[in-house]
Amino acid sequence: MFVNEIKIENFRNISFMGLFPDKGINVIYGENGQGKTNILEAIWLFTGCKSFRTSKDSELIKFNSENAKISVEFESKLRKNTASVFIEKNRQAFLNGVQLTSPRELIGKYYSVIFSPVHLSLIKDGPLNRRKFIDAAISQIDETYAKKLMYYNHLINQKNALLKNTAEDASLLNTFDIWDEKIAESGAAVIKCRIDYLKMLEEIASDIYSGISDKKENMKIIYAGSFGFESESTDCIRENFLKNLRKNRSNDLYLKNTTCGPHRDDIEILIKDISARKFGSQGQQRSASLALKFGEAEIIKRIKGEEPVILLDDVLSELDLTRQNFILNKIKNKQVFITCCEKETVSRLCTGKVYKIENGNEVK
Ligand SMILES: Nc1ncnc2c1ncn2[C@@H]1O[C@H](COP(=O)(O)OP(=O)(O)O)[C@@H](O)[C@H]1O
Ligand SMILES: [Mg+2]
Repeated sequence: MFVNEIKIENFRNISFMGLFPDKGINVIYGENGQGKTNILEAIWLFTGCKSFRTSKDSELIKFNSENAKISVEFESKLRKNTASVFIEKNRQAFLNGVQLTSPRELIGKYYSVIFSPVHLSLIKDGPLNRRKFIDAAISQIDETYAKKLMYYNHLINQKNALLKNTAEDASLLNTFDIWDEKIAESGAAVIKCRIDYLKMLEEIASDIYSGISDKKENMKIIYAGSFGFESESTDCIRENFLKNLRKNRSNDLYLKNTTCGPHRDDIEILIKDISARKFGSQGQQRSASLALKFGEAEIIKRIKGEEPVILLDDVLSELDLTRQNFILNKIKNKQVFITCCEKETVSRLCTGKVYKIENGNEVK
């Protein structure tokens, strides 16, 4: 999959920019705060997902402008497409001239994988970032997943509000059984999707990891649930989830929070059968993060038959030469946008186009 043309208007610090990217490597360089990541963010929005930096669409509009617009021509195996994303109060998307009911309808039409310094610390960070990673990865290949997750989060918010209000209105307690059943059913569906995804990811990422580590080490991925289940069937997960919601009820009432469920789950990465988060070296943790991210790209390719557009935001300069070379090897035959501060970091390997960005403009 390739982006042939991109036009950006009143987006972040960019008033207007038009680019005709290379089908291989595109280097975007310039000093800090000039608008490099903004370009990647604009390209990312065609995944149909929210920005990787903010959930508030209005932040994307250039200060003092009323709206922002980004248009692309992209080429998938099947056809050339034009798409645009228009941002006013929220995002609206158009594909081949037709307005979509939601930008999410772009999912399955265009694919990207973003890799930024946040992802380099994926292994050692708290569970929230690992959940975000896996949720975003599944959302791109399964249009129904984001809906499942949103519904689950909605139920949890409602339940937590009830937990807070029971002190004043004890009759609310009677409604808990019904809420818990809904939560267990919807949460089990979320967990099932995550477990299935992680199985695929483990197979691919462990291969990639052993490639980076010179076949010396193995990597495993485990779904670290906030409650246990004997089998991975959706029914079994649901039953155990319900059991735990009931068991935790008095504690949850005391804490005014639902303390188990997919919103509390984690992913554990093992290297040589030991927790990489707790015991891994920085090098092992970074290699594992790379393996997860390139695993995400490989899954898109296998399942959807399209190479995702790769967005590498400021990561190369953070890595040693071996890992840099590993990345540059992995991105062959893909379209890539790489941002960096020094042109030299990538120019030695770059055969594509180079864009210099200053104050939201491309300078020749
Ligand atoms: N909505 C906005 N309107 C105008 N400028 C913005 C907006 N959001 C961010 N910026 C500006 O964009 C710049 C950061 O751009 P960014 O792409 O993150 O820089 P970098 O080149 O370091 O990747 C900052 O100068 C910031 O003030
Ligand atoms: Mg940046």
